[in-house]
Amino acid sequence: MLAELAARPLPPLSYEEPLGSPSLRRSVSRELLKSGIAADPASILITSGALQGLQLIALGLLPRGSTILLEKPSYLYSIHAFQSAGVKFSGLPMDQGGLLTGRIAAEALRTKAAMLYTIPSFHNPTGIVMDRERRQAVMKITGELGLPILEDGAYQELWLDSPPPPPLKALDREGRVLHLGTLSKAASPGLRIGWIVGPEPVIRRLADIKMQTDYGASSLSQLAAARWLDGGYHEEHLTVLRGKLRERREFMRQLLQAHFTELATWSIPAGGFYIWLSLHQPMPLRRLFTAALQAGLLLNTGDLYDRGDSRHLRLSYAYASPEELRCGLPALAGIIKQNINRQS
Ligand SMILES: Cc1ncc(COP(=O)(O)O)c(C=O)c1O
Repeated sequence: MLAELAARPLPPLSYEEPLGSPSLRRSVSRELLKSGIAADPASILITSGALQGLQLIALGLLPRGSTILLEKPSYLYSIHAFQSAGVKFSGLPMDQGGLLTGRIAAEALRTKAAMLYTIPSFHNPTGIVMDRERRQAVMKITGELGLPILEDGAYQELWLDSPPPPPLKALDREGRVLHLGTLSKAASPGLRIGWIVGPEPVIRRLADIKMQTDYGASSLSQLAAARWLDGGYHEEHLTVLRGKLRERREFMRQLLQAHFTELATWSIPAGGFYIWLSLHQPMPLRRLFTAALQAGLLLNTGDLYDRGDSRHLRLSYAYASPEELRCGLPALAGIIKQNINRQS
């Protein structure tokens, strides 16, 4: 695709409009329609990845000292965008159907929450998909509270069995949902292209802050991203990627079955990259991390995603090669066993 782009006369790579390249915003708008989100290009801001989207929202929309509700565990605990902006977190429990809605209202009122952040599809780190009924309940409860939602759709395209239910943004009739997307997970994290979809005045405000931060995402990346989406490369790539991820997921399932049945439980995710391993016994995860590192294994321990956690590991079947998984997972099982023996 880049070779095809290079063969054409290159437009001048000047600064783009504050919302981002019009042609990329049109492509993203067409792409979003496939998941049921009808978004005019004027309601889309191109960002340098979804992470920048989170940073702009933390800086531009949330007063210092405000609280956001979120799933516990969550990817958001592992980054510092919100904490650095003086925003507090209030975690809500999940089950296999996603965020449990029972405590949203009480917690929103108690903390005077400014927003609810959620990753409804292939949640990071648990891999859980919020089911259709839960999505409707979340929209209804937050609607009654007038609570804005920040929906992180980073993994939503990466379904492996069947597409997830429509995103919350597709159910939003009041302009209450901000939706984040990215090319990082399915295409390329190094491209640094993501987007925020929301009401136009909010998007313009976030675009102002973005202009003050970096004058816009790279024009070259925006050009490549528009071609990637418009030329059908993305669709084609997703089909290949899904096939490869299914193989990897199956490979990891077999390795877990062979080496971890006495140590942990897990669910097989319907998409995304991660298996959330629940250890039968709690253990000091920092100690496990250090022991694994000494053996050449880099662990994503559960305490990154929930400070108080002492019994989960986030395993990715997307990142390490099959060979690394074949050696690494039995080695990890051995290290966990040693840690259990040290405790008893
Ligand atoms: C849930 C979630 N949101 C956002 C991001 C940030 O992605 P990007 O590379 O687009 O900044 C990640 C990356 O790990 C993620 O897991």
